[in-house]
Amino acid sequence: MWNIPFVPPTASEEGAAISNLYWAISILAIVFGSIVLFGAVFLAVRYRASNNDVDRSNPVDSDLRMELTWTLIPLFLALAIFGWAAKLYADIYAPREGGYYEVFVIGKQWMWHCQHPNGVRENNILTLPAGRLVRVSVISQDVIHAFSIPAFRVKRDAVPGRYNWMYFTPTKPGEYHLFCTEYCGTKHAEMIGKVRVLPEKEFQQWLESGGAGVQTASRPASLEEQGAQAFQSLGCNACHLNPNSAVKVPDLTKLYGSEVKLADGRVVKGDEDYIRESILNPAAKVRAGYDPVMPTYQGVATEEQVIQLIAYIKSLAQSSNGGN
Ligand code: CUA
Repeated sequence: MWNIPFVPPTASEEGAAISNLYWAISILAIVFGSIVLFGAVFLAVRYRASNNDVDRSNPVDSDLRMELTWTLIPLFLALAIFGWAAKLYADIYAPREGGYYEVFVIGKQWMWHCQHPNGVRENNILTLPAGRLVRVSVISQDVIHAFSIPAFRVKRDAVPGRYNWMYFTPTKPGEYHLFCTEYCGTKHAEMIGKVRVLPEKEFQQWLESGGAGVQTASRPASLEEQGAQAFQSLGCNACHLNPNSAVKVPDLTKLYGSEVKLADGRVVKGDEDYIRESILNPAAKVRAGYDPVMPTYQGVATEEQVIQLIAYIKSLAQSSNGGN
């Protein structure tokens, strides 16, 4: 849109749509504000005490048509704005099935840690492809932060203990501000960074070069592969996916996306949040038919490792479903 000072750049599809809504609301506010202001000034001048040129007999004290007009027009306008805004909100925050490029963002005092599916990591900078739908999966390692990119008109709370998502499509290559917009301690104001949008082809090259911008011989381990390593280093493999395990453990190869029957009779979905909770607090939702014998990995597995383990467990389910 036009280059208006004090307005952040608009660099995503959603940002452009939100800007249109913003200007529509601003114009409505100016139009209605002007009608009221000029009406008040006009009447104050015309009916001032010293003006004897006006007819003051027979004052109107009610008029149904007028009242309906000034009630119904604003009502319909407000409902239309609500519907329009709700649609834009859902475009960004309603869950979607696939079709996106996913990145993981972990907030911690006081930095942003970003992970790409192929294993590339970045700190306080997030590199994204232009023209592609992106899902950002946000979580916090300590207190509540908020991940905000004004140029895309998006922000999402980074909450400890749960994954939050948002979806958007960056459109213009360039560099944009990244902020924490939830007061999170002494250095909250320093918890800033950059979002870098690259054209699709450049992005692919950058991703394959391991993120450093230089071509290296060895590809970084993907999130799945890092997850498989963490699975070993944390000792998960002593029991899970071990045919000779001394204890009876649930089958992880079909966990992701399945319905999990719990010991207390509830049924939950085997999604990211369930897997995360079962790693960090295994006693919370014990699978029916199994004993609560797994130790907690709270304070042992980092949020980075949890994301890697989830990617690994997800990949197990995908390969046991025949590739997808
Ligand atoms: Cu993190 Cu404010």
